[in-house]
Amino acid sequence: MLLAGRLQPAEIAIDGEGRIASVRRTQTGAPRHDVGDAVILPAATDLHVHFRDPGAEGAAESIATGTISAALGGVGLVAEMPNTVPPVTSVELLEEKARRVAGRAAVDVALNALPRPATIPPLASRAGGFKIFLSPSPPIDTVPSLDELPSLLAQLAPAGLPVTVHAEDPQRFRTEIVPQDPPGWGRVRPPESERQAIERLGEAPPGLRLHVAHVTTRDAVVWLGARGISCEVVPHHLLLSDRSGPDARWKVNPPLRSETDRAALWGAFVRGEAPIVASDHAPHPPSAKEGDFAQAPSGMPGVETMLPLLLEKVRAGELPLAVLVAAACDRPARWLGQPVGRIAPGHRANLVVVDFRSRRPLAARELSTACGWTAFEGWTAIRPVEHWRDGVPIVEGGSYVGRPSGRVVRPEFAPGATPLVEAGT
Ligand code: NCD
Ligand code: ZN
Ligand code: ZN
Repeated sequence: MLLAGRLQPAEIAIDGEGRIASVRRTQTGAPRHDVGDAVILPAATDLHVHFRDPGAEGAAESIATGTISAALGGVGLVAEMPNTVPPVTSVELLEEKARRVAGRAAVDVALNALPRPATIPPLASRAGGFKIFLSPSPPIDTVPSLDELPSLLAQLAPAGLPVTVHAEDPQRFRTEIVPQDPPGWGRVRPPESERQAIERLGEAPPGLRLHVAHVTTRDAVVWLGARGISCEVVPHHLLLSDRSGPDARWKVNPPLRSETDRAALWGAFVRGEAPIVASDHAPHPPSAKEGDFAQAPSGMPGVETMLPLLLEKVRAGELPLAVLVAAACDRPARWLGQPVGRIAPGHRANLVVVDFRSRRPLAARELSTACGWTAFEGWTAIRPVEHWRDGVPIVEGGSYVGRPSGRVVRPEFAPGATPLVEAGT
């Protein structure tokens, strides 16, 4: 397993509560489970998923199907976004979503709420975090202007919860362009609109746990890192450019960028400059993606393929395993204040087993996402062979064998814990 940044043989003792009791070269006790020379990693935490539940749980994704996808992709905890239908703007709607997790989720779920000045205080005592959209994103059509942002952030700071921002400035969108393909979409929503929104976050109150979603340029990653603001990069901006696919399945917000921008972002990720990788799992039914490009919704699925695609990059020698584990497992778990993401005593035994020889092309028909397609069809990937949750297998032989024991979790921060997710490993 990966210990202290390098692969070494070890045995993990798990206590009766499903927590890691100790990690040693050899352990005594029974029962024992031997993974041979496969590699044990901490299960990943995905800070950015849209499970469309309520709203489009039949056609695109439900909490049940999305969390099984997560389990199969080696993700043991997801942060769910509030742009479901209706958007999560009140305690009642948050609790309605929490009821959908109980008894249906295969992995744990942190629920984000959409902040409205009047409902911030009651939501702050119940939500797992807040998500601010600076550009409209269905079904959210009213967004704060960049001038209203500082006051909104100031109201959120006392809650102490993680605040995630979708940072694109709609004032900079070139709405006169009718996009026909991904490069056209990139001209409508250029990197400049992202830069403009991100730079306003430099005025955020100190101490705010601020995180920028799906950053597409290396410059933005570096700018945010220099100011102690967390951010995530997502597999599609790391692996795909605006020339990777012609139709609306490759339409996403922010848009896929040029090959030059993609390569620079990948380089930053490989060097550990981007603190977190998340999927921005945003499934839409195939029919919605088949029509006119300009009208099609933005977003693509990813929670089930994020780790498998990046593990193949590790196998190919293009990405250090320690960088991937820090960005996909450890830092996002710290960000949500959860005792997962590390193979260390006291942490929950949420673990995945990876056999680097078990490489296969991705095929949408073998994925569990209800939307039924992937922009990574045919890409070689390494899917976890096993996934353990609190010391109990939920994936065996690459198949889901769990039950819906996932819970709603809220951040638990140690007093005085630093909000900064430090870059590098
Ligand atoms: C997301 C969606 O479909 O909910 N779409 C996307 O293109 N990323 C919304 C979002 O994350 O902005
Ligand atoms: Zn977004
Ligand atoms: Zn999103």
